Order: sequence, then structure tokens, then C-alpha cells
Amino acid sequence: MDERFALAQELIRRAGSLVRDGFRQTKQVGHKGVIDLVTQFDLQSESLILDGIHSHFPQDAVLAEEGGRQGRGDLRWLIDPLDGTVNYAHGVPIFSLSIALYDGAQLQFGLIYDPLREELFAARAGQGAFLNGQLMHVSGTSSLQDSLLVTGFAYDVHTNPDNNFDEFAAFQLQTQGVRRLGSAALDLAYVAAGRLDGYWELQVEAWDVAAGTLLVREAGGSVTRADGSPDVLQAPHSILAANPQLHALMLGLLMDRKAKKA
Ligand code: IPD
Ligand code: CA
Ligand code: CA
Repeated sequence: MDERFALAQELIRRAGSLVRDGFRQTKQVGHKGVIDLVTQFDLQSESLILDGIHSHFPQDAVLAEEGGRQGRGDLRWLIDPLDGTVNYAHGVPIFSLSIALYDGAQLQFGLIYDPLREELFAARAGQGAFLNGQLMHVSGTSSLQDSLLVTGFAYDVHTNPDNNFDEFAAFQLQTQGVRRLGSAALDLAYVAAGRLDGYWELQVEAWDVAAGTLLVREAGGSVTRADGSPDVLQAPHSILAANPQLHALMLGLLMDRKAKKA
């Protein structure tokens, strides 16, 4: 596992440099859906990471956002080569890269890299969570009233009636605020670092949240799906991450809103 962890750190920094350089260049923006964008740098970042994995560990399986699932090995790499593509395409400097390794039973490591701020968030199972080598811990905020939260909205927000607006309004009215940064991986990294107190999103993908889930857990936080079930890597994916006390309060509010909708 040490070799894979070292390789992941090298690849996320190299792909991060590519994404950072691309941010200042002209982007070719394609559409995967009405509001779901992809640039040439999403694709180049993913190719760099996949080439590195395939050349060192050809037997490993991968699940990457742009290329999908490849291979059948027990070890699976979960890769978001550019998380925050809508920000990136518009020139908003909030985006990240995310790489995690899952062994079929548990997440072995997770890395999230913000190439503009050169912040590398890293965790290994049972070994704590670190920001540029410094130990991180989730916040101790224990009330909704004192908390600053973050959320996100899926790409079917225009058409899906379960669009998170109801939950967004309810949390906004009970907290210091709800941010929408536009990068699920950074949202989780910031919860792990104690910068934000809690994060939820009703519809995500495994590559958005795999690395961040381990980061938050290793930083002392609780991570579940939005209904409180533990296996965030199982579809349909949703996410609720916070320190344990706040997690319980947020789950209560989410369950309450769900019961009112039923
Ligand atoms: C998206 C971002 C966004 C979240 C969406 C994700 P992408 O990922 O993380 O913050 O709200 O659910 O799909 O498309 O930028 O990699
Ligand atoms: Ca993503
Ligand atoms: Ca992405």
C-alpha cells in the first residue's frame, strides 16, 4: 500500500499542475448534459492519472469520472480528475482533484489536492488526516446555530423535484450560513480541516466523495449517506459529513424534511 500511496501523491500533484496551468488558458468546454460540463483539462488530468496507475499497477481496477469503470481487481482506484468543473470553466478559482483507493472492504487512502492553493489533504486508514503534513481535526461546533455548512446540487437540479432546495432553506434558516463552493471533494476536505462544520448533498457519485469520506472519518468526523446509512460507496450515493454531534443534528433535520415530503 505504501507504493500506491506514494504514486497517488505524485500523480495528484502532477495532474494538479496540469489543471492549474490549464486554468489560465483557453478552455474547450463540452457538455455531458445541459449544465454538466467537461473541458480538455478534465480529460488530460484523468489520462495522466490513469496512465500512471496502469503502468505501475496494471492489475488494479479503476472508476474514473470521464472514463468510467475499468478492470476487475480487488483494489479499485476512485478518481475525480477535476472536481468543480463548472467553476473551472467560468474562471472561478475553486476546484480540486480527488483520488482514493478502496480494497473491497474499506478505503485505504484518500487524497484531495487544491492546486491553486497548493493544499494537499491526505488520509490513510487508521493513521489520521493531514493538510500539507499537519494533523487535521473536524470542528467541535455542536449546535446548528453556531455552524457554517456547505452543500451542493446535482446536475438534474432543473428537473428533479428532490432538488435539495427545501433542505437548503431549512439549514440556511437555522445556521450561520450554507455555502455552495462547487467542489464536493473540497467541501469534504474543509469539513475534515474544521473550516466548515458540516456538508450534505442528496445526489453525488462515488468519485466525488470517496477520498473525502476517509479524510473526514480520519479527522474524527462521522460520514454516512444522507439517510444515515453507513455505506457511502454504495449506490444511490448521497452524503452527510460533520463532527459526530452535528452529524446527529443534521441527520435529524434531513429525516424531518423527508418525512414531511412523504
Ligand atoms: C460536481 C461538484 C459539485 C457537486 C456535484 C458534483 P464535477 O462535480 O463536486 O460541487 O455539487 O454534485 O457532480 O462535475 O465538478 O466533477
Ligand atoms: Ca465531481
Ligand atoms: Ca469531475
